[in-house]
Amino acid sequence: MPNGSQKQYVLDTHRVRDPEHTLEIVKPFLKEMGISRIANLTGLDRIGLPTVMVARPNSRSVAVSLGKGLSLRAAEASGVMEAIEAWHAERVQLPQRLARYAELSQEADVVDVAALPRVTGGRFDPHANMLWVLGRDLSTDVPCWVPLEMVDTDYTAAPVGGQKAFPRSTNGLASGNNLAEASCHAICELIERDATTLWGHQRSSPRLDPDSVDDPRCRQAIEMIVAAGLELGLWDTTSDIGIACFRCVICEGGGQPGHIGIGDGCHPDRAIALLRALTEAAQTRLTYISGARDDLDPEEFTDHAKAVRARYVHSLIDGTEASSNFANCPSHVTGSFDEDLEFLLQRLGSVGISQVVTVDLSREEFDIAVVRAVIAGLEAPHDDPDYVPGPRALSISEGLT
Ligand SMILES: Nc1ncnc2c1ncn2[C@@H]1O[C@H](COP(=O)(O)OP(=O)(O)OP(=O)(O)O)[C@@H](O)[C@H]1O
Ligand SMILES: [Mg+2]
Repeated sequence: MPNGSQKQYVLDTHRVRDPEHTLEIVKPFLKEMGISRIANLTGLDRIGLPTVMVARPNSRSVAVSLGKGLSLRAAEASGVMEAIEAWHAERVQLPQRLARYAELSQEADVVDVAALPRVTGGRFDPHANMLWVLGRDLSTDVPCWVPLEMVDTDYTAAPVGGQKAFPRSTNGLASGNNLAEASCHAICELIERDATTLWGHQRSSPRLDPDSVDDPRCRQAIEMIVAAGLELGLWDTTSDIGIACFRCVICEGGGQPGHIGIGDGCHPDRAIALLRALTEAAQTRLTYISGARDDLDPEEFTDHAKAVRARYVHSLIDGTEASSNFANCPSHVTGSFDEDLEFLLQRLGSVGISQVVTVDLSREEFDIAVVRAVIAGLEAPHDDPDYVPGPRALSISEGLT
């Protein structure tokens, strides 16, 4: 694994190796991880932004991962790395401890459970035993315990040693070419989901003027979407944390029936954040068109469901004015992941979040990194059926009444 945190590839994602090299490194391990197929979906839609699906039939969570990028190789690396991170999280091998929070917190550092997201019907009992797994607090560099049920993704059974009190999701799970790279991605994913949830709690905010986007890679993606006869809406969803986040929605133009696409992206570099939202929106449309993902409900494919989604996207676009300017969105471009990490921790600290825990799920035998980040205080994704609003969302809702 490269130790240096210097970025070597900065086109559509920031990486310490280029996607071709990453693919070469992981290829020998795909069979062992049950990854059986990488399929190019791009041609099933008329946009042309590279999108792939990766099959892992014996998965204990989802059997299909999607990948996106500006080149087919970048899309393949993203799809394969998503499948790889899921394989790791389904078989956590780290030491675990059975303990009551009330006792464990007396003798060791434990994540701030009071600020963790909760789930509907879940009640955390600090005096009942549960399994904990060891992570590291990035600010203090001290070992820190987190609930195993927030890390493990073996969904074939109820969480072993869990209380069903905290969300079981893949939020904050990420892979990369080394630990710093994977950690930055995991933290950005948590910041993105928090920002998207908070944006959903606000009254309508102005759209981003697509003509104000001056980055050539984003321009290319926007023009490909528009040239396909699709309408698009972009929003700056950046929260008070100040790391650029965007939402992109697309739908058929002229009120034609068809699939929609929704994508979100977060990155210290605003151009990468927007590009991620754009390519993810195209990926979502292809997810519907291909029907590839095993967690899609057939109900979502009825004409009625498609029309409801299209109406929602149209009303979002039509209900807002494109008056916000890309140049006003925050951007902080660095040459290394160590600098990105420092910046992310500093921005989180500015809203009172000082504890960022990462659990290292990497295995020695593979030359890649997989981490799960847990950041107490951030909102969980609001589209999760078990979502319970936390203090950040509640303070927005209260401000509106
Ligand atoms: N070129 C690459 N090299 C190494 N890891 C990569 C590369 N591209 C993506 N990854 C990793 O693959 C995983 C999936 O990345 P991707 O950008 O496709 O999705 P994501 O933003 O995590 O989206 P989702 O919202 O679907 O989880 C992430 O953990 C990411 O860090
Ligand atoms: Mg992810």
